[in-house]
Amino acid sequence: MKNLVIRGGRPLNGSVRVSGSKNAVLPIIAACLLPVTPCTLEDIPDLVDVHTICLVLEHLGARIDRSGSTLVIHPPERPCTEAPYEIVRRMRASFLVMGPLLARTGQATISLPGGCAIGSRPVDLHLKGFHTLGARIEHGYGSVRAEVGPNGLRGNRIYLDFPSVGATENIIMAAVLAEGQTIIENAAEEPEVVDLANFLNAMGAQIKGAGTKVIRINGVKELHGVTHPVIPDRIEAGTFLLAGAITGGNVLVQNVILDHVKPVVAKLNEMGIMVYEESEGLRVTGRDEYRAVDVKTMPYPGFPTDMQPQMMALMTGARGTGIITETVFENRFMHVSELRRMGAKIKTVGRNAVVQGPAGLSGAPVKATDLRAGAALVLAGLRAGGETVVGNVHHIERGYERLVEKLRGLGAEIEEVV
Ligand code: EPZ
Repeated sequence: MKNLVIRGGRPLNGSVRVSGSKNAVLPIIAACLLPVTPCTLEDIPDLVDVHTICLVLEHLGARIDRSGSTLVIHPPERPCTEAPYEIVRRMRASFLVMGPLLARTGQATISLPGGCAIGSRPVDLHLKGFHTLGARIEHGYGSVRAEVGPNGLRGNRIYLDFPSVGATENIIMAAVLAEGQTIIENAAEEPEVVDLANFLNAMGAQIKGAGTKVIRINGVKELHGVTHPVIPDRIEAGTFLLAGAITGGNVLVQNVILDHVKPVVAKLNEMGIMVYEESEGLRVTGRDEYRAVDVKTMPYPGFPTDMQPQMMALMTGARGTGIITETVFENRFMHVSELRRMGAKIKTVGRNAVVQGPAGLSGAPVKATDLRAGAALVLAGLRAGGETVVGNVHHIERGYERLVEKLRGLGAEIEEVV
């Protein structure tokens, strides 16, 4: 198994370019099943999760040519309608092929994605949406099968009990070729939903309201492939801003859309850590002393749950006591015990974590339990005195492209050891 070995205590300085967004590109690749002609996707990060969704699409009959960070995806004439269990179980986002398959072929059989470290992560809202559009849903043998009747999918009004990102995206992809209008209420407003809608509209879809709570989709007959550069990864950008902050360094984060990271920048400013907008990107200047704050994760435009573990690592060095409340996932504090091993003073009570600081961190062997928990441990290792060894690096490789190279470029003492 690979480990990351970090010798902390040095400020990071320099500039780093953020890659394309993992959480934008996964639904966009799934959406490439919809058009009748090929799509060209640009700024695609080289990530394990991207390879996984490409494997699913190839199994369904698509042909994918990759050159550098550009993907050309040739949709299948007649897609296979069954996604392979052994691939889907690796990554929950594979479930995002269900909407496009339903729209293109009228049927889809996908294995139910398992839960993961951060929660049970059901797909009931996705299935409620498909059912409301006219699909019959059957469960069996760990898979779910959806099949539309002879009239195909028909537009309808859907209210999401929770503004689920994946459910919003999956329902949009099912509705774009449905008969009539679909209205999604209490929809997710994340930038990745907007990027997907922009991509689909460029292909000829008629989607209005993406980025707001009410999205209207008028079904069309056919979609045609386009070229689309994906948006930058706002969570990677936030992670690097916090890397500069936690080490008291001076880091310019390039290729970032300020609006997408506003909740994180606002919190840093509250802590007394300044972030400046420059022509090339956002510059963070860390400082030895910064204030503790309270953080509550919320659906966009609230503070992102995907930055919660990284913020907790930063808060270990803040002066005072801060409370972090995780409202999106039911079990996203797996990083707490690992941070405690490094000397952090954190107590969890239900969905709240009370962080007391400043706590001096010392390097220790720790284990990543999921993608963002792993990123938090790397940040803590960059601040801690001595050597930190982060295990289960495969979690981190799912969502951060060339992380070691980028951090070394900022002066970090970090290496990957098998
Ligand atoms: C997306 O996951 C992201 N992944 C996650 O990022 C992110 O944490 C999450 O949105 C929230 O922002 C991708 O985009 C690939 P949800 P998703 O459906 O769509 C419950 C990362 O680190 N729920 O908005 O799966 C669910 O259990 C990953 O990059 C239902 O109850 O998230 C959770 O508590 C982690 N029923 C909450 O909603 C459903 O049918 C949010 O889930 C669907 C979701």
